[in-house]
Amino acid sequence: MSHSHKDFDAEDQYKSGFDISYIRRFLGYAAPQKLYIILALVFLALSSATQLITPNIYRKSIDNYLVPLYTFVDSKDEAFVKFPKLAEVAIPAGDATAAVPTSFLEKNKDISDSIKNKGENHYIFKQESYDGTHGFVYGGNWFVPDKEFADIDPALLTKIRGTDITGLKRMFCLFLLVLAVHALADYFHRLTLEIASQRTMYSLRMALFKHLQSLSVSLFNRTPIGKLVTRVTNDIEAINSMLSTVAVQMLASAGMFIGSLVIVLYINWKLTLVSLAVLPFCVVITIVFRLIVRKVHRELRRILAKINGVLTEEFSGIKMIQSFNQQKRRREEFAEVNASYYKAGFKNVICMGVFGPILDLIRHFGTALIILYGGICVLDGDLTLGSLMAFITYFGHLCNPLMQISNQITQLQSSLAASERIFTLLDTKNEVAQPELPVIVGKPQGEVEFRNVDFSYIENEQVLKDVSFKIEPGKSIAIVGPTGAGKSSLINLVCRFYDANKGEVLLDGVNVKDWSNEELRKHISIVLQGTFVFSRSIYENIALGDPTITREKAIKAAETVCANQFIEKLPHGYDEVMAERGATLSAGEKQLLCFARALAHDPRILILDEATSNVDPATEHLIQDAIDKLMIGRTSMIVAHRLSTIHKVDEIFVLDDGKIIERGSHAELMAKKGAYYDLYLLQFSRRI
Ligand SMILES: Nc1ncnc2c1ncn2[C@@H]1O[C@H](COP(=O)(O)OP(=O)(O)O)[C@@H](O)[C@H]1O
Ligand SMILES: [Mg+2]
Repeated sequence: MSHSHKDFDAEDQYKSGFDISYIRRFLGYAAPQKLYIILALVFLALSSATQLITPNIYRKSIDNYLVPLYTFVDSKDEAFVKFPKLAEVAIPAGDATAAVPTSFLEKNKDISDSIKNKGENHYIFKQESYDGTHGFVYGGNWFVPDKEFADIDPALLTKIRGTDITGLKRMFCLFLLVLAVHALADYFHRLTLEIASQRTMYSLRMALFKHLQSLSVSLFNRTPIGKLVTRVTNDIEAINSMLSTVAVQMLASAGMFIGSLVIVLYINWKLTLVSLAVLPFCVVITIVFRLIVRKVHRELRRILAKINGVLTEEFSGIKMIQSFNQQKRRREEFAEVNASYYKAGFKNVICMGVFGPILDLIRHFGTALIILYGGICVLDGDLTLGSLMAFITYFGHLCNPLMQISNQITQLQSSLAASERIFTLLDTKNEVAQPELPVIVGKPQGEVEFRNVDFSYIENEQVLKDVSFKIEPGKSIAIVGPTGAGKSSLINLVCRFYDANKGEVLLDGVNVKDWSNEELRKHISIVLQGTFVFSRSIYENIALGDPTITREKAIKAAETVCANQFIEKLPHGYDEVMAERGATLSAGEKQLLCFARALAHDPRILILDEATSNVDPATEHLIQDAIDKLMIGRTSMIVAHRLSTIHKVDEIFVLDDGKIIERGSHAELMAKKGAYYDLYLLQFSRRI
């Protein structure tokens, strides 16, 4: 059992041989959200596709409308015969010259490689626009050399480019449409994904909460509560990114990368190779960075847990700290963890601060390479200007996923670690496991029996040793004995907060292990020394949601145990809402409230463990009557330090060092002049 709690303690490390079943189990929780996940994927594909289309729209706008550039080729060349496609797009520009769109040549490498290129590029307009100075006219067209284009009268250009402007406007509309589709797809992708993951987290949190509730008290004794809180809150958040990263983002990044790669290869494979030369640097730097950052993050988390620990202890122990003037010492302790957190945080910032710019630098270097090499290609007529523009954008689409994937791997690792912690916790066996088929007892008589019970919290440190006794239904017993004798432990076994190591604890002749816990505890009311008050109203604290406990019944119970006196003094009486842990009540008032709670629930078995220890003797005397009444017809087990309160019980057990050393009625034990007698005399003389 100690093994299992170590596992989910592991704060940041997941075992090298990671168990893939955790992912499967997580997906099991996500499965009911299938529809939303599929929708998210569809919208994602749509949004990625639109993102991939946009650079192509730039390209078309530039190449077709902004600068439709033509290359002169030899029209007597045999390539003209060989490629009939060529003849279709070629515009005659002289006896042995044809103008072919530069973009066409670029797309059809086989043609451009075999045809004889006549150098200079030209723009083509209608002959009517001819300004009589630049270029030449042939076959109804006006040919303007690339270099003279800038010299043409701007007013004339605007006029003659009218159709181009219409085309541009069309492209603009198309662009807007694609943008709108992209934005919508992106929105719905995020929305559906978020619905799926929020719902998955909801059900995981519920499952974890329910499981934790069912676990034995012993787990909560040895596990820091803060850690369990972290499981239900932070770890569930972390595991959630499994859905968004694994299922979706990684896919998106990979798709974007591959899509962009295919497109840039298609545009110009040589330029692609040149630009990809920077990628290995990106990859290496990303990997190195990730290793460093992981270490830093782990340290950050470790120190944060420490800070939380110091804080929790500080606030819950504030009274002791102030009364023993420990502030300065505690402050120094905090300063230490605070400083290490600061240092780790600083390291983190530096890492991030260095990594981002370095990667940017490399990427910009890649862009510069594209402009240099691509620019030369454009000048050579191997590449259109639009293609170059598109290429630069696609290059960004190529680099971003690489960086994102590195982040996603980090995130994936932390969610895998979280999933391991969560599922190990979910797998923690309940040490007081429920029987598969609980014995149905009906309304029990209330007979409690211990048969040769041995019990220990920690191995080899036996707390109860061979304890045997039987309490007839309706009888009352008291357990007395020195502090640490095992009185509370004995009671823990009756309520089955723990299980005996050996022997049996029976209720109505049925082993408590064969009862369903719920059924068992329904018949037991317990008032402890350290009581628990919920941050609800007084009435709700008494009734605890039991519909049979009406307000009248609750008030009656409070009156019986004299709790009404302090309750009526509260501004809102029974509707007064308690502070957390009932912090505004005195310890004695809290005990009285719990008495009322126990009484209102009308149990078969009543257990009081030093239940009046915080009540003044006068009040104790008052409620003694109530207790006496309460015990009638119920099996009662009372642990009391003040022996004056237990005269009326049927039998007294003296427990010492885990063994019952004496038992009998008050009179018998007094007559015996044994341990009880000594104890009694001691208290009696003190009282006087
Ligand atoms: N949760 C626990 N884990 C380990 N040891 C415990 C735990 N609770 C009590 N003990 C030990 O068991 C012994 C009996 O405790 P307990 O039954 O509470 O004594 P008491 O008779 O004062 O009620 C003590 O020595 C105590 O230190
Ligand atoms: Mg005790």
